[in-house]
Amino acid sequence: MSRYFRYRSLADLHADIVKLGLEDDVRLTDDLSPLWRPVAFGGRTIGNALAIQPMEGCDGTLDGKPDELTVRRWERFGAGGAKLIWGEATAVVEEGRANTRQLLINETNARALDDLLARTRAAHRTVCGSDDDLVVGLQLTHSGRYSYQRPLIAFHDPAVDPITLADKKRKLPVTDEYPILSDDDLKRIEDALVAGALLAWRIGFDFVDIKQCHRYLLSELLAAKLREGVYGGSLDNRTRLVRNVIRRIREETGDRLPLASRMNVYDGIPYRIDPETSVGVHRLYPIPYRSGFGVDEQNPFREDLTEPIRVAGLLREWGVTMVNVTMGSPYYNPHVGRPAEKPPIDGYEAPEHPLYGVARHFRCAAAVQRAHPDLVVVGTGYSWLQQYLINAAAANMRDGRVTIAGVGRGALAYPNFARDAQTAGSMAGKKVCITVSYCTALMRGKHNELGQFPSGCVPRDKVYAEVYKEMLRTSDRQKSVTSDK
Ligand SMILES: Cc1cc2nc3c(=O)[nH]c(=O)nc-3n(C[C@H](O)[C@H](O)[C@H](O)COP(=O)(O)O)c2cc1C
Ligand code: SF4
Repeated sequence: MSRYFRYRSLADLHADIVKLGLEDDVRLTDDLSPLWRPVAFGGRTIGNALAIQPMEGCDGTLDGKPDELTVRRWERFGAGGAKLIWGEATAVVEEGRANTRQLLINETNARALDDLLARTRAAHRTVCGSDDDLVVGLQLTHSGRYSYQRPLIAFHDPAVDPITLADKKRKLPVTDEYPILSDDDLKRIEDALVAGALLAWRIGFDFVDIKQCHRYLLSELLAAKLREGVYGGSLDNRTRLVRNVIRRIREETGDRLPLASRMNVYDGIPYRIDPETSVGVHRLYPIPYRSGFGVDEQNPFREDLTEPIRVAGLLREWGVTMVNVTMGSPYYNPHVGRPAEKPPIDGYEAPEHPLYGVARHFRCAAAVQRAHPDLVVVGTGYSWLQQYLINAAAANMRDGRVTIAGVGRGALAYPNFARDAQTAGSMAGKKVCITVSYCTALMRGKHNELGQFPSGCVPRDKVYAEVYKEMLRTSDRQKSVTSDK
């Protein structure tokens, strides 16, 4: 039974928005026409203003090629009708992968990625007639602190180190003696990001995203006020890596590869579960809070968008023309990035009504868009609104608060939401994401022979209902084997 989302109409939802005093941040409209406006980006036309967010399925081969389920997901996205597909997190080096099945871009995997792109486009053509106005990009990532082999950290973060496991088996956290990535390490990572971008360009992706979000490496660097040397401290230093990467990609492609970045504008602070209530409570934090990006140092529960807005402007100056605004960490404050009805398996009950989370996403994206009207700003955090997300997206576009609305979990559950919205004028309530976090639970499942279960929508897609059952069954078996010992 839904705890928060009990709306039978747009008016019901609106009433709750007003009750919570969020009507400035969360706006709704019946007029969906803004969704169907084309958007100019990188010399191309994106045929409508709906995007599918990067949604990794943790379902590649062990060497990082797309596998059967990866292709299935991308084809379903391709056939969905959204005209911007923001291809999922793809690591540029093995040691920077977040899990054993994350996609990895290199010469060996280029053909398989090429095939993935071709199939996605073909699926779109089959349903929409032409793919001329479909834009498909690839997110290039280094997982940094969340690399699966071991944490590769940019600086010692007093709030996050104690909950970063240096030794997963023995559950030992990162200590002050744990090494940080050196400046030379970061230079090599620059090289790898540039090489990944050139390869993605050769394959034929329409753009690359230099990922700076969710506290993976480049996101952590944005917050690295406590790091010494040329990659830390001042904002100029903290943006050095991304600036160098952008400059080099532009030089090496003769400026022919459109560039984008998915960026955290508010990191928030770490939370933990309260064992008595199961509700999320913040962990102890220092004041001033100096290890979060976009975080008010005196009151870290609030965003301070001064630096994020500056960085968005700098990115624009350096040649990035599309910014996907996002926030939070999937590991230590999942309610910030993904407002949800039910918590993920490693999470906690929401410490706030999810509408506050939606409002935070919309408010921050609007601030970036307002400051940089010529930037294509993609907004995040729509899925909790279920079938009404299109009404919120259209209102945000109408009011110039965002250029494109990106849908994450909503697209996993209901890949053809855009087509339905266009043809029927609404999304089907029976197909929507109900934000119950099974997809995240699958991401956390590591106990099969590949070291990772594939992720997808359990309530809406039979394939993953089966995978989930298998995960539970084998975890029970594993528990009984452990207890036999
Ligand atoms: C299963 C799953 C996979 C995700 N994969 C990525 C990813 O590859 N890259 C990324 O930037 N965000 C990723 N995200 C975050 C989403 O793109 C999105 O920001 C988040 O779900 C909030 O948007 P929503 O409310 O529309 O779901 C993922 C989230 C989930 C649940
Ligand atoms: S499992 Fe499906 S319904 Fe649940 S949050 Fe993920 S996409 Fe939404």
